[in-house]
Amino acid sequence: VITKVKARQILDSRGIPTVEVDLHTNKGVFRASVPSGDSSGTYEAIELRDGDKGMYLGNSVAKAVKNINERISEALIGMDPKLQAQIDHAMIDLDKTEKKNELGANAILAVSIAACKAGAAEKEVPLCKHLSDLSGRANMTLPVPAFTVLSGGNHASNHFAIQEIMILPVGASRFEEALQWGSETYHHLKAVVTEKNGNMGCNVGEDGGLTPDISSLKEGLELVKEAINRTGYGDKIKIAIDVAATNFCIEYPIVFIEDPFDKEDWEHTKYFSNLGICQVVGDDLLMSNSKRVERAIQESACNALLLKVNQIGTVTEAIEVVKLARDAQWGVVTSHRCGETEDSFISDLSVGLATGVIKAGAPCRGERTMKYNQLLRIEEELGDQAVYAGEDWRQTL
Ligand code: PGA
Ligand code: ZN
Repeated sequence: VITKVKARQILDSRGIPTVEVDLHTNKGVFRASVPSGDSSGTYEAIELRDGDKGMYLGNSVAKAVKNINERISEALIGMDPKLQAQIDHAMIDLDKTEKKNELGANAILAVSIAACKAGAAEKEVPLCKHLSDLSGRANMTLPVPAFTVLSGGNHASNHFAIQEIMILPVGASRFEEALQWGSETYHHLKAVVTEKNGNMGCNVGEDGGLTPDISSLKEGLELVKEAINRTGYGDKIKIAIDVAATNFCIEYPIVFIEDPFDKEDWEHTKYFSNLGICQVVGDDLLMSNSKRVERAIQESACNALLLKVNQIGTVTEAIEVVKLARDAQWGVVTSHRCGETEDSFISDLSVGLATGVIKAGAPCRGERTMKYNQLLRIEEELGDQAVYAGEDWRQTL
């Protein structure tokens, strides 16, 4: 049973405060922390921040920490950590608001994830297996990593308008090989960028992507294509874009595009999605909000969900929204945030829910490699049972 819940304020990868919690049970202490992003939308769960300009420029999370240490702790002590849905609903009921603004989604999610880890320990199974059980799925799958290799937009200070270009080693046979290919491509890209744009272009953005001062998407795609060519893996490595632009070339092996239009521009997103050029992933469009996902399914506005657990607030609700997307034959991409922590929960989540793709930034920088390295460990632990999504990344049913 849960014997103690103790939270504290820590820093995320951008140096901005976030919530960490230690949840104690008879089996030990289980720690979780929550990420944060740039694109906080009106439909996502509310991240509680103190707003005291004298403390971390208004970003401290003392209230969220206090809510855990007092109200949430009181409600959960004595509960069985295996009962994820009951724990999550106890917090949802305590909060009573739709967007979790009373206790803070950052407070609730940290505890939800810590309880999930404690539940796995209680059952003596790996975290990804526990998540797979909670979601009622039969099979686990190692996701294809969508490595950020070029950064722009709000995630970098260059003049490249597109937020990121990613590479997906779909033709690898195992996650371990995918990580190797991703890292090799990234390092080839460093050389390409240095040759064409000088080594200042090798400074990295928030997610670890390189930030050459290029001005067009085509220029970025050319750099990435050249890096892929140098690896010798050819069309076994595909490209994806998280962009806000209408014009792009189809001579590149692009397999998905995220947020091709403004988050309220349902019409164009739908039109674009129906062209069937590639998978269209809704991130800012959906904000992991089940009502928006339902609407997008009904209107066929896009055909894949970008899953950001902190936009939802509990593990249980994250599992539910993935089910919703799956039932509509959508793809699902498990995602990090630009402000990350040393928690690799989303790695287990992507395997347990078999989302097919994980997007956790570049194959560099500790808070990003944490996620990829955890997938290496999971693949090793699953041994013969490990299945890499590979070419089936779109549908891992
Ligand atoms: P964010 O970026 O964390 O700034 O929202 C991540 C993404 O857009 O995928
Ligand atoms: Zn995005």
